[in-house]
Amino acid sequence: MTAKILDGKSIAAKIRQKIKQQVQARIDNGLRPPGLAVVLVGNDSASQIYVRNKRNACEEVGIISSFIELAATISQVELLAQLDKLNANPNVDGILVQLPLPKHIESNLIIEHILPHKDVDGFHPYNVGRLTLHIPLLHSCTSKGVVTLLKHTGISLAGLDAVVIGQSSIVGRPVTLELLEANCTVTGCHIYTRNLAEKVRNADIVVAAVGKANLVRGDWIKPGAIVIDVGINRIADGSLVGDVEFAEAIKNASWITPVPGGVGPMTVASLMENTLEAANMESCKF
Ligand code: GUN
Repeated sequence: MTAKILDGKSIAAKIRQKIKQQVQARIDNGLRPPGLAVVLVGNDSASQIYVRNKRNACEEVGIISSFIELAATISQVELLAQLDKLNANPNVDGILVQLPLPKHIESNLIIEHILPHKDVDGFHPYNVGRLTLHIPLLHSCTSKGVVTLLKHTGISLAGLDAVVIGQSSIVGRPVTLELLEANCTVTGCHIYTRNLAEKVRNADIVVAAVGKANLVRGDWIKPGAIVIDVGINRIADGSLVGDVEFAEAIKNASWITPVPGGVGPMTVASLMENTLEAANMESCKF
């Protein structure tokens, strides 16, 4: 068996096209275009690229993005004050603070300061809590993108055994919750997990989100499993690879995401969906 490729790049392009039409429909109905505020603290080069991709996507779909670029030395109090302004701005539907933040700033405090209905990253405890209670509102972008990719396979997810490797707040934990919500039986693996290979060998769905090149060996993949690789790692020869040994895994899987061009573009497409959703729930009171 050779796996089919879950082409995140083209699926994300179709989602952006749909969002563009929905944004235009809002405007045709006399509403303003959605607004997204993107906050970047410091000059981390990877974050600069991610933020540029997000702003380019906004431009493509007709979302108005404002870019707040702040020095790495900004104090926590000053950053909170910036968020107060964005929370109060009626033209800003979504607020995204690119992570990671400099060490002197407590990320959780910053995330909790964003109004939950403007939390288009879906990281606020309110939105994470709603997901755990089966009443999701704004979904976290990468995990939403993972579920969209899984649905694209056309395979019914209910009852499948899923293994999620990595339990970060940004990816692993929300993916675990989303797959539970999709009625999978989910095993959340992490640094203390014993016999990772054995767990992966039993999985119908494998989501790898650790950030360690080729951590998941191709021969661990059960024949017919779906493999979603969230990892993006630069290796010695300068190329980008995921957390899964792609060349071997493709021989066993039924579907597999490439790196790059798999989950990455889906995160950005999900952000566009969330920003439109946040704009459309303007009347919501919290
Ligand atoms: N850093 C890495 N991924 C993300 C993301 O999805 N959102 C934000 N805000 N920061 C990130």
